[in-house]
This record gives sequence, C-alpha cells and structure tokens, in this order.
Amino acid sequence: MNLLLKLRQKKQSHHPKIAPFIAYLEGLTVRPQANELREKMEKLNITQEDLNKHIQFHKSRYLRNLIFESKHVQLLCLCWKYKQSSPIHDHAESICAVKVITGIATETTYQIDPTGIIKPVATTEYPPGVFVSEDADIHNVSNHHEQNLITLHCYSPPLKKMKKYYPQSKNSKIYEPRNSQNPK
Ligand SMILES: [Fe+2]
Repeated sequence: MNLLLKLRQKKQSHHPKIAPFIAYLEGLTVRPQANELREKMEKLNITQEDLNKHIQFHKSRYLRNLIFESKHVQLLCLCWKYKQSSPIHDHAESICAVKVITGIATETTYQIDPTGIIKPVATTEYPPGVFVSEDADIHNVSNHHEQNLITLHCYSPPLKKMKKYYPQSKNSKIYEPRNSQNPK
C-alpha cells in the first residue's frame, strides 16, 4: 500500500462530525489565536458517542487519548472518573481550548505568592461548553462529580512538557504527560 493511500485511510478513520475540525487543524501553518480555537471548538457539535473510538478510562488516573497531532496543534480526548485529577501544572508556551463533552469539569487556578509558595485563587465548574487556558496560567482540572467526565483538549503548540507544582509548596518539576493512542 502506498503512503498516500495509507494517509487517506487514516483521514477517513475520523468520525464524519470530527473530520472537518481535524481538516482545519491540519491546515494550520501558524499557531492560532486562543479566541479562534475557542470559536472552532464551540462550533464543534459532537457528543460522547461521536468520540467513542477515543474514549478510554483508567481505574486510578485520568487518561489522555491522542486524536491528532501536528507541528502546531494537538487534539486529545481526556477521560476522568470520579475524583480523578490532573497535577497542578502550567502550560509552558501552549494555549489550550477545552470542550466539556459530558460531565462537569472543575478547574482550580493557582498563583505563586511573594514567598514562592503556590496558592489556589479560584475554582470554577464547567458544564458542557468551552473554556480556554493561556500559556502562563497555572491550574488543575478534576472530576468532582460521580458522573464520568469527558473533555476535548486542543493545545497549540503541542504540550509535551510542563511544570508540575505541589500544593502549599515552593517545589516544581518538569513533567511530560503520557498520552494513549487509538484505544479502540
Ligand atoms: Fe491544563
């Protein structure tokens, strides 16, 4: 099988309701503005069923299921069971648009106080819809509700490394998130 045919088959494997958004991502030649990503994600009319192929949970940690990646963007389906949480992290130099597909996402934002200790400043609950994080934001996302949480995350550029922080601490370390691929 030649490479072109393989690539066509790979493209066709996306759900028809997601394929136009993937085509938009593939066409990006520069990093998009956060508002542009937000608008595109808001217009993306998809349900949990449409993402079925990318949905995979883990019993003890949230899972990051990679859907698409290029030089400029990365699209992941994150699956969270009750009480699962991301570490407290920054976004290095990436922007991120998050679309809650099902469930309620809880985001806590943090600031480093003058003594260098990380402190929570606000907690917001997001029902289905889109929210955006900018490069310098420090936050964590959790599922505080018994219903499973499924979120779609679009990072630009791809988020390969970030800083992980510890509550009430001055410590941080570089963290490389693990992504799963093609769960089904
Ligand atoms: Fe984040």
